[in-house]
Amino acid sequence: MDAGTHKTRIFDSSASSLDRAAAILRDGGLVAFPTETVYGLGGDATDARAVAAIYEAKNRPQFNPLIAHFPDMDSAAKHVGFPPLAERLAEHFWPGALTLVLKRNPASAICDLACAGLDTLAVRVPAHAVARDLLRRTGRPVVAPSANPSGRLSPTSASHVIDVLDGRIDAVIDAGPCSIGVESTILAVTEDAVRILRPGGIPAEEISEAAGLEIAAAGDSGIIEAPGMMSSHYAPDCALRLNATQPLQGEIFLGFGEADHGPYSLSKKGDLREAAANLFSLLREIERTGASTIAVAPIPEQGLGRAINDRLRRAAAPRERG
Ligand code: TXA
Ligand code: MG
Repeated sequence: MDAGTHKTRIFDSSASSLDRAAAILRDGGLVAFPTETVYGLGGDATDARAVAAIYEAKNRPQFNPLIAHFPDMDSAAKHVGFPPLAERLAEHFWPGALTLVLKRNPASAICDLACAGLDTLAVRVPAHAVARDLLRRTGRPVVAPSANPSGRLSPTSASHVIDVLDGRIDAVIDAGPCSIGVESTILAVTEDAVRILRPGGIPAEEISEAAGLEIAAAGDSGIIEAPGMMSSHYAPDCALRLNATQPLQGEIFLGFGEADHGPYSLSKKGDLREAAANLFSLLREIERTGASTIAVAPIPEQGLGRAINDRLRRAAAPRERG
């Protein structure tokens, strides 16, 4: 929806309300819903425009990758691979306040913007009955960051959501306060190692015990990689030249609005939501042509343009590894 033009609807958690909320999600709308940790701002993970609208509603200056929510492990397993260790953790803690960052299945229909271009995906099966019922009725993976504007506290009731997002999202489902009240614990899991990316609802000790591995508690230096920070960011294999008005010899041009040379444009209409929705997939597509440099048209530094420029500047900067 367009910010400020509509009123946000408040739904109860009856079956008919959840059906209406699921229909809004399938149509590309935004619905805030309760989980046992915090209220999430949900959108269809396979719809890049819906995902762009989430960043816009949150006024996020950066495209952090988002968590995809599923009603059960089988539906999550269509989108990511579960090494045995991850399977053990999922069986032990799901449904619950645990998010697993796993290798994304290349056949997954989840859009590149949802994972900010990474080849991993964060997945979670929440324990809240209303959340799982909504996810089942929606029948699609739903990405949901906490339902607050960037820089504000995470909401643990529907009225918190309304206080900060009224008029910016289509609906909120009111099912009372969240029982846990802090976000999920995020783990990166590979074949033989578990790393805590964000401490949360499930303590490190419980995870160590279930995994049968020593996992350093969150807070030990060098262990936590702030989620979404540099080293986990997607960077294209080619160089980027920003604020370009036309391509130089050998460059491939990535246009925006009237700056348009060649087959690639983030949005010919100059629409920032469309540009955000296209950003990561177009960068990947151009990268695959073997281009050595992408010349990118100027993007206005406003609204979603700030997040687009943030990502372009990082991608253009000399590589940070490790
Ligand atoms: O409890 C929760 O986890 C809530 C509820 C709504 O489920 N959601 C939530 O989402 O806290 P959000 O977007 O506020 O935080 C997600 C965090 C971000 O810091 C992001 O950088 C990290 O997860 N993340 C997501 N995908 C990632 C990935 N592929 N690799 C590394 N970090 C990732
Ligand atoms: Mg948050």
